[in-house]
Amino acid sequence: MPAAAMRDPLVDRYGRVHRDLRISVTDRCSLRCTYCMPEEGVPWLARPTMLSTEEVVRLAGVAVSMGIEEVRLTGGEPLLRRDLVDVVAGMAALDPAPEISMTTNGIGLDKNAPALLAAGMTRVNVSLDTLRRDVFIALAKRDRLDGTLAGIRAAADAGLVPVKINTVLMRGVNDDAADVVALLDFALEHGYELRFIEQMPLDAQHGWDRSQMLTGEEILAKLRTAHELTPQTPEERGSAPAELFMVDGGPATVGVIASVTMPFCGSCDRVRLTADGMIRNCLFATGETDLRTPMREGASDDELAALLRSSIAGKLPGHGINQPDFLQPPRPMSAIGG
Ligand code: 5AD
Ligand code: SF4
Repeated sequence: MPAAAMRDPLVDRYGRVHRDLRISVTDRCSLRCTYCMPEEGVPWLARPTMLSTEEVVRLAGVAVSMGIEEVRLTGGEPLLRRDLVDVVAGMAALDPAPEISMTTNGIGLDKNAPALLAAGMTRVNVSLDTLRRDVFIALAKRDRLDGTLAGIRAAADAGLVPVKINTVLMRGVNDDAADVVALLDFALEHGYELRFIEQMPLDAQHGWDRSQMLTGEEILAKLRTAHELTPQTPEERGSAPAELFMVDGGPATVGVIASVTMPFCGSCDRVRLTADGMIRNCLFATGETDLRTPMREGASDDELAALLRSSIAGKLPGHGINQPDFLQPPRPMSAIGG
């Protein structure tokens, strides 16, 4: 693709410059993690509403022309998308090419990791909430722990590094201190970067309950039963959502993403595109900007760029989870992506 004319950057009313685009390429998933969906699943997006390979690459190109430097593919489970390698190759051919990564549950990554790397993906985040098969089944409602572990290994072997592991803890489900420490030991042994994410109110069944959420502080206390953790300085953290801790003096680190108890909305640089072509300016946005309909009706890139800019202009300062009038967005995590 020829070098695109660069447009003005995506700055919102609070001065936040948007550099990170997260694209949900499908809302379908091979697991049913309780913090995301009910066991029976949810009504999936209708196929004709889902963006084609060309459409998703075109919209990413418009975003890149507005200063997006990083594209993260999410789901549902992105590996369920049959044209995933083509989507990655299309993004990699944009000029300037964004950095391309993916958040995945790892199932099937053992078959695809080398092809994804060759197409231009550089690294992956794999969701892994437990190393215990019984707990995995209770949490994800499918007996697929081996698939996830095989995917993690394959990503590392292929060079999709650093492999980051995302873990969500739920009280009474996977929060046993010895099991949480075992996850960290597993990550340390293999050189994976482990990050714990506080559970957010994004499940389709609207079952989130603050008292069931493990706070960042509680997670750290569990890890400290076995390891010494030293926080990094604020300068080292920058705008990253994860607060990193050196483990036993380093160099290995473990991260805590305390989205609920210590929101980092003030430095948010993310914007999201759903599999059916809607721009969401926040995980928790209650409104969306439709790019699919105008694109299919013949809108130019300039017109699509203007729509994206108007969405960012309307971005609220924060998610408001901690306010009494907080309303959970109608669209569940599986159809937003992480
Ligand atoms: N709260 C926090 N994290 C979540 N994820 C999915 N649902 C939630 C939630 N309700 C995480 C997954 C995955 C990424 C897409 O987001 O564990 O790593
Ligand atoms: Fe699937 Fe991810 Fe939702 Fe789990 S969190 S059900 S892996 S989309």
